[in-house]
Amino acid sequence: MEQLAKSRGLRFLTNTNDLDHWGRDWTHYFPVNALGVIFPKTVADVSEILKHCHTHRICVVPSGGRTGLVGGAYATQGELILSLSQMNRILDWDPLGLTVKVEAGVIHETLQDYLRPKGFHWPVDLAAKGSCQIGGNLATNAGGVRVIKYGMTRRWVQSLTVVMANGKILELNGDLEKNNTGPCLRDLVIGSEGTLAVIAEARLKVTHLPRQCLTLFAPVENPAAALTLLQSLRECGAPLLAFEFIDKASLDLVLKHCGDPNPFGEFMSDAVLIDLETTDVSDVYAKTALDPRTILGESHSQVQKFWHYREIITEALDSMGFVYKHDVSLPQREIPRFLKTVDQEFSRRFPGATNFVFGHFGDGNLHLNFGYSAKDPDGRRLAHCEAANDWLFNLVHQYRGAISAEHGIGLLKRAYLRFTKSPEELAILHALKKAMDPHAILNPGKGVV
Ligand code: FAD
Ligand code: MLT
Ligand code: ZN
Repeated sequence: MEQLAKSRGLRFLTNTNDLDHWGRDWTHYFPVNALGVIFPKTVADVSEILKHCHTHRICVVPSGGRTGLVGGAYATQGELILSLSQMNRILDWDPLGLTVKVEAGVIHETLQDYLRPKGFHWPVDLAAKGSCQIGGNLATNAGGVRVIKYGMTRRWVQSLTVVMANGKILELNGDLEKNNTGPCLRDLVIGSEGTLAVIAEARLKVTHLPRQCLTLFAPVENPAAALTLLQSLRECGAPLLAFEFIDKASLDLVLKHCGDPNPFGEFMSDAVLIDLETTDVSDVYAKTALDPRTILGESHSQVQKFWHYREIITEALDSMGFVYKHDVSLPQREIPRFLKTVDQEFSRRFPGATNFVFGHFGDGNLHLNFGYSAKDPDGRRLAHCEAANDWLFNLVHQYRGAISAEHGIGLLKRAYLRFTKSPEELAILHALKKAMDPHAILNPGKGVV
């Protein structure tokens, strides 16, 4: 590998500190074991590297911004880390087709900064935007806070340039909006977490920035009340851009983390953060049961502050002793019953822990975070939380939910796929993996395949 890197003028790192840095994502749970980190600069570089790995049976972890929350970008079995971070050019803007072509390593926020002055955005929005890469967003089919209006990442991709495990370069879908020539390989690669192919370039669809936006920060009594509010907003035709739930424990945590007073004064409760694409909320106030303490964001800085509370939850949780994260989705009507059932058992199963619940209620997506104030030096808490997964995922299954809504499978959820995917579905996916990566060199032990 060193020779290949040298002959193509590529950066190749092998020292322990570098491997430890590049070999992990946000989960922090696993020890890193990597062969090295290589930084291709072109699609041809990616192709040559994979050809070499295919021939010599070297396993590869495609690596983006490493903000993943399920261990997908971790190297644990002596793999080569293939970092796309030097492939970070914006290649083409098409104002007629409303698409932008990028290399996979473009940082999410860099793309938004490029599009904003033109009046457009790629309407995927997540708190990791300052670090995550477009390739990582596509490989995870990321969700985020605007799914309620725009849908998931897959909807905003026109075409991909991917490199297969054997080094072959495929153009998936050309620059076409409409292409019904059979099933779509592009859509299979999106969300495959680096297990089917490496995404090298993408042409993304963009849309106008919202013309206006009002933000409401509303206390709610409980999750059921949040959903009643959501239903009444939908019934009165409110143009929802975001509807995010933050439970009392999470709100309390972020306020302490930021050193800020409670915006609702003495009253501490669950809350929802709502963005509406409108300049007039009189109808919303007249037709929904908004709590009188609801705050309408009046200045840019106030709105930013409310969104900061929502976006900083992950970091606030990360800075406590130990947190075990879940990312489940459910039919929205089942959320209150599901959460009640979890609550009934939680303190018995997890003495000393708090369940921090927040997330994208507008999409039926809850983030449950089992948090402890003390650290987990010997991995006992991790093992304890993992041992409870069968209990939680059985519940998710009973309520006809999914064990991963938006974060993916990675290393963390692989043992629990059976709770969401049938054996028949898994068998088809395994056959597909075999066809696309016969020596199983791409991201082994991760994802669905
Ligand atoms: P990485 O973590 O580097 O990789 C993720 C997976 O994609 C790995 O399996 C990796 O092998 C694969 N991969 C990366 N690049 C490529 C490529 N070019 N080709 C093929 N495979 C590749 N996620 C959400 O969905 N919604 C959220 O709201 C959200 N909020 C977050 C907030 C915070 C603070 C943090 C830390 C994370 C959040 N995430 C969220 C999770 C994470 O940011 C997303 O999954 C993101 O899409 C990962 O992008 P990345 O570039 O960091 O990918
Ligand atoms: C979020 O919605 O903020 C993310 O999915 C991150 C998380 O779950 O911690
Ligand atoms: Zn989320």
